[in-house]
Amino acid sequence: MSQQSRQLRLGAIIQGPSGNMSAWRHPDAVADASINVEFVQQLARKAEQGRFDFLFIADGLYITPQSIPHFLNRFEPITLLSALALVTRHIGLVGTLSTSYSEPFTVARQFASLDHLSGGRAGWNVVTTPLEGTAKNFSRAKHTEHDERYRVASEYLQVTKGLWDSWEADAFTRDKASGQYFDPTKLHTLNHQGHYYQVQGPLNVGRTPQGRPIVFQAGASDAGKALAAEAADAIYTRQETPEQAKAFRDDVHQRLIAQGRSPDELLVFQGTSVIIGDSEADAEQRYQATAQLVTLEKALEYLGRYFEHHDFSQYDPDAPFPDIGNLGENSFRSTTDAIKHKARAGNLTLRQVALEEATPRPSFLGTAEQVADGLAHWFLSGATDGFIVRGGTPTAFDDFVDQVIPLLQARGLYRREYEATTLRENLGLPEPENQFAAKAQRVA
Ligand SMILES: Cc1cc2nc3c(=O)[nH]c(=O)nc-3n(C[C@H](O)[C@H](O)[C@H](O)COP(=O)(O)O)c2cc1C
Repeated sequence: MSQQSRQLRLGAIIQGPSGNMSAWRHPDAVADASINVEFVQQLARKAEQGRFDFLFIADGLYITPQSIPHFLNRFEPITLLSALALVTRHIGLVGTLSTSYSEPFTVARQFASLDHLSGGRAGWNVVTTPLEGTAKNFSRAKHTEHDERYRVASEYLQVTKGLWDSWEADAFTRDKASGQYFDPTKLHTLNHQGHYYQVQGPLNVGRTPQGRPIVFQAGASDAGKALAAEAADAIYTRQETPEQAKAFRDDVHQRLIAQGRSPDELLVFQGTSVIIGDSEADAEQRYQATAQLVTLEKALEYLGRYFEHHDFSQYDPDAPFPDIGNLGENSFRSTTDAIKHKARAGNLTLRQVALEEATPRPSFLGTAEQVADGLAHWFLSGATDGFIVRGGTPTAFDDFVDQVIPLLQARGLYRREYEATTLRENLGLPEPENQFAAKAQRVA
């Protein structure tokens, strides 16, 4: 695909009031945003007005009193997306669900249902769950080790995709005259007997409008990238510079080719926050006003969550970042590796690391033109296929839709209207073949 014909892709993340962990205190914030359905509907409509490809909902399954406030009381993603399916028409609906704490049959059924319910707009952000404490909520003695979680996820996705192929698209004939409800030659029973899963099938939902829901993968370690190359349609990741992002995307492309897939079959999305001001100084002031809501105590708690809720308040905040050994390796590995590396390389204090994590300066901060320039640069230099955008202040997402989207449209980088009805078609991703029908055809 040439750079000219490539279209920038955009997702909108729904996460609390937007901004940072303490943004609920901002005068413009809806303090109960994470459990306020009117607020979420409004955000979804705004994103659809901006012709966003999809809404994206992150999730977690374990909290402590030290968790990010809007994690303490929030909607379950599939339930929320089902509600949003009925008040939106075009926008994709992507929800996070863990392969480490669920069953493939249930999850295949939930996302297939969402795809039917929304007319082909469902997406699943596959995560392996970082936090060890989650085991305590699911009657498990132990949280599975990092790389094994990815081996489980790999087999899990084979099962899910096999279940989604249970029925061919035209299997349900419902011929009243003959009494034939379905064509038995178009029903395929999976009979999966694997290392982690034994699943017979078929699924009790027909082939979905998109063929299969879109599969995202979030997780940037080697094992995470390998899973994405094997089985995902999109990746959600976070890199700090266009150079790092380009290296990441190139690496994923090499892995796709090694799997016999084409780089066009997977889109890379950079998670980013944005702040738009009338001038650069105004944008900076908006950033500072939101950042200063986060106290050092809260920043240390935020940082601690990545490291299994480690108590960082025990160290001198103005001493160099403490040596915490392998802590974090079995949870947010790629993130904790990056934090440790940055702290060492920059000789940063604990205070600097904690504030940098809890109140990161948005990569795209400035006037609407400056933000549009920045996004265009990353995209046109091949650093990314698109962005998953969050407002860096409670009002920044609305500013983005009102001011930045028209600039991207005027530059021919972004759509003015949705091209199609399904998320897959809007993203320009190929329709998956039904593995059983394709096999039968090859044999015939
Ligand atoms: C950008 C990004 C977003 C993530 N979002 C979620 C999420 O919403 N819920 C979740 O349980 N885990 C999330 N994860 C965690 C991963 O699923 C994974 O469990 C963890 O990062 C360890 O994998 P890694 O070392 O491959 O990154 C995310 C990870 C990254 C890098």
